[in-house]
Amino acid sequence: MTTTTTQQDATTPPAGRKAVLDASGVTMRFGGLTAIKDVDLQVHTGEILGLIGPNGAGKTTFFNCLTGLYVPTEGTVSYKGTVLPHRSHLVTQAGIARTFQNIRLFANMTVLENVLVGRHTRTSEGLFSALLRGPGFRRAEQESEDRAMELLGFIGLQDKREHLARNLPYGDQRKLEIARALASEPGLLLLDEPTAGMTAGETTATRELVLAIREEGTAVLVIEHDMRFIFNLCDRVAVLVQGEKLVEGSPETVQNDERVVAAYLGTPFEGEPGEAEAAEVQAAERAHETGPLKAGGTAGTAGTAAEAEGDEH
Ligand SMILES: Nc1ncnc2c1ncn2[C@@H]1O[C@H](COP(=O)(O)OP(=O)(O)OP(=O)(O)O)[C@@H](O)[C@H]1O
Ligand SMILES: [Mg+2]
Repeated sequence: MTTTTTQQDATTPPAGRKAVLDASGVTMRFGGLTAIKDVDLQVHTGEILGLIGPNGAGKTTFFNCLTGLYVPTEGTVSYKGTVLPHRSHLVTQAGIARTFQNIRLFANMTVLENVLVGRHTRTSEGLFSALLRGPGFRRAEQESEDRAMELLGFIGLQDKREHLARNLPYGDQRKLEIARALASEPGLLLLDEPTAGMTAGETTATRELVLAIREEGTAVLVIEHDMRFIFNLCDRVAVLVQGEKLVEGSPETVQNDERVVAAYLGTPFEGEPGEAEAAEVQAAERAHETGPLKAGGTAGTAGTAAEAEGDEH
């Protein structure tokens, strides 16, 4: 059987890797607007997959469909072979965690408390145990705190454990959101614009952090507008345009795809507005250079330039 094509090679991850996430035929309509149209996407074990596209392409809406925040109009989302329910806490419990495009931390809670909140899906102690603060509860609490401190060490915020989240610099708030998401021990982490508003140094640190997260065994699906970040980090990249998946493949394949360039920059078309004006300016400049030598000459453009000069005085 020799059915493998070059196209498939570009989009198929290394053999032997299983799909952690399998979104199939996902469509999301809001009234008359189709924000996501029939999108298939798979993320595999150990993979960092980038999701890019112009503003309003549907990237965040797609994340909302994956995490149970929206119920897709059509299609299914499976995690490790099981179709996910449309309830966000059940999706987190199943093993998918996310961060938000607009940071969502508990501003008046400490750094440590924010991470502990992220752990609640992984603690089994019930209400009575918590109220009675029995030995089981205290042990679970200590374990949670140890793990939360480990995560704060991982993102480099252990020394700020008692700081209120709202007092953290912006870059640290984004990192704290990642730690909180990791606290639920996900098999797949979804990051929505993790470097938005970051300095170049913070962006580089975030890249290192995502690579470390992958090393720890968590697959990552990341939305970002910073192309350098995406193409340096991701194993594969998928491009959404107007709710549809336009291209998917290696960073090299995607960067060199003319449709992707056109989607970001717009396709040039015949008689582009501004062309006539540009030609006029060029002609005027040429005339300006040669005009004085041709004073009284017949070239219309020379006359125009001379008139323009005359207007200035
Ligand atoms: N709850 C909603 N109700 C109605 N329309 C919505 C809703 N959520 C998103 N949309 C629309 O869906 C489209 C896709 O929006 P979305 O936020 O997913 O884009 P995006 O790719 O994340 O853009 P950006 O890069 O700017 O974050 C937009 O036209 C948006 O207005
Ligand atoms: Mg968005």
